[in-house]
Amino acid sequence: MADKIDEKSILSVLGQVNDPSLKKDIVSLGYVQNLKIDGSRVTFTLALPTPLFPSKEKMREDSERVLSVVPGVTEVEISMKTEIRMEQNARGVSGVKHIIAVGSGKGGVGKSTVAVNLAAVFSEYGAKVGMVDGDIYGPSLPIMMGAKNAELSQNERGIIPIEAHGMKFMSMGLLSKGSAPLIWRGPMAHKAVQESLLRVDWGEIDYLIVDMPPGTGDVHLTLVQTVPVTGAVIVTTPQDVGMTISLKTFRMFEQTKVPVLGMIENMSAYLCPHCGKQDDIFGAGTVATEAQRLRVPYLGSIPLNRKIREYADQGVPLILADPMTAAVYVDIADKLATEIYVRNYNKRTLIIEEEPEETAESFAV
Ligand SMILES: Nc1ncnc2c1ncn2[C@@H]1O[C@H](COP(=O)(O)OP(=O)(O)OP(=O)(O)O)[C@@H](O)[C@H]1O
Ligand SMILES: [Mg+2]
Repeated sequence: MADKIDEKSILSVLGQVNDPSLKKDIVSLGYVQNLKIDGSRVTFTLALPTPLFPSKEKMREDSERVLSVVPGVTEVEISMKTEIRMEQNARGVSGVKHIIAVGSGKGGVGKSTVAVNLAAVFSEYGAKVGMVDGDIYGPSLPIMMGAKNAELSQNERGIIPIEAHGMKFMSMGLLSKGSAPLIWRGPMAHKAVQESLLRVDWGEIDYLIVDMPPGTGDVHLTLVQTVPVTGAVIVTTPQDVGMTISLKTFRMFEQTKVPVLGMIENMSAYLCPHCGKQDDIFGAGTVATEAQRLRVPYLGSIPLNRKIREYADQGVPLILADPMTAAVYVDIADKLATEIYVRNYNKRTLIIEEEPEETAESFAV
């Protein structure tokens, strides 16, 4: 008599396969979906929690291995999809799962370039991405997204974000024509940032990346008071040796209860376009050391590379124009997405195990 296989026994076997980052099995985590048994053939979908998820091949192999010894199973087919989980927070932006602020204390360190390139990597790997120009005084997104002539319009649900390279973005910079700067009074600036987040018809967004202005000012407070921010990324350069400015940014996020998801070192080594040699002109490793001291993840180091600037000026994301050079952003995007889902998972577990301690209203500003 042929061995009878049923859903329960298959799930119990798949329960031996773990997500390596969470050290928890893929069945309890809800990754195994659409399980079908057709005679001796087993098919299911693995729902991955981040767009890149390098452990996916290991999970696939482990699943195939444990199922291969189940009597009666002759064929296993596993498909994969990305299913980014929602941040656990009541008061959010409709349809948006995670809000990530990209900030730094200093101007010109490459926040906007990092924000656009990370967004483009997430999008390229299948996530739904939105971006907000938090820098209302010196907006960069219209140029970096190659949509400086785009015009904003609205429907009954709100402002329609601009779509470029498969991503959506909103920039108040699109309201000022040509190179005329926008002049905002404090309260107007506050409102502009609020509207850029709340009055936009975002649709479904996995990661909404906010390109912050330099410094530790008003926009930051508006952001944290308006929406629940999943976390922040701090971009810094090795020249900020004592990290004095980055440290201020770190404290600001800390004080306003925005988790720092990681630090990125930008424009560290110089990559020679002629010989391809890398030269650590400002010294290497200062940001990594500081991140370790502050106990925040170090997400990686981006070299000073002419191509990064050129494609930013042309409004073409690096991952589309030059995937090889973009590899450094892919690595950083992967670490960032992993940090988000691991934190989210730990937060959920904490909420289940303990009474929730804080509400979204309790910002100590
Ligand atoms: N790794 C890099 N290699 C080469 N050029 C870079 C790199 N990162 C950023 N740049 C360039 O440096 C300049 C400043 O970058 P960017 O506008 O992203 O900085 P920012 O921190 O957002 O500035 P601001 O504070 O004005 O908003 C841009 O011309 C950009 O193309
Ligand atoms: Mg900028």
